[in-house]
Amino acid sequence: MKKLEQIYEGKAKKVFKTDDPDLYIIDYKDDATAGNGAKKGTIAGKGVINNKMTCSIYKMLESKGIPTHLVKMLSDTEQLDKAVTIFPLEVIVRNTAAGSMSKRVGVPEGTVLTEPIFELSYKNDDYNDPLINDDYAVALNLCTRDEMSQIREMTLKINDILKAYFLEKGVNLVDFKIEFGKTNDGAIVLADEISPDTCRFWDVKTGEKLDKDRFRRDMGNIEEAYQEMLKRVDG
Ligand code: TMP
Repeated sequence: MKKLEQIYEGKAKKVFKTDDPDLYIIDYKDDATAGNGAKKGTIAGKGVINNKMTCSIYKMLESKGIPTHLVKMLSDTEQLDKAVTIFPLEVIVRNTAAGSMSKRVGVPEGTVLTEPIFELSYKNDDYNDPLINDDYAVALNLCTRDEMSQIREMTLKINDILKAYFLEKGVNLVDFKIEFGKTNDGAIVLADEISPDTCRFWDVKTGEKLDKDRFRRDMGNIEEAYQEMLKRVDG
């Protein structure tokens, strides 16, 4: 497998072509941003942690019938993935109120929700990834109605699996963001990462935050929290 030119650089990852048109290499970075790039920094060791954690969780999800873009881990920061076209949607699930939901709706952080909330944002940095819903997504041709229902069904199944998985590790899965892509043969698969950058993880016993809110809110012990989450996932 030959790593060819970079085709994309995001806030936390770089994507490279390979000599196989159906495969990409994704390289995870230590760079961290918050507030759509308003706050910038680095979290030492984050690239390695997020790559390893995503690979472990994706393998577990695959074993439970969720199709993902992951082929295999290549190195500490790199993974080999199926080439996909990402739907321009941030798919968010909330089990407990926190973050932007608490601010927008006036519900205190920590309020347990009666049902999980399936939330969508349109990936558009110029407009700060605005909140939309499934009708917007279809009307704006971000996906078809059928793709939307597949995405929703997969997302709620992923939430059930992840909630139970993290609970076993003493972690309350408060909320998370995932993305989906379409492979060259038209299959919808889970893509992007599942890590402390993209989830809120609260220790079940102490309520301690083990995720990027420590960076967003200048709480300190950021690297330690990321390390602790990798330890809980990989044992
Ligand atoms: P929010 O409360 O700021 O809307 O975030 C909800 C969840 O989504 C939280 O776990 C963090 C994650 N998230 C991302 O991964 N990327 C983003 O750009 C945003 C806004 C949130």
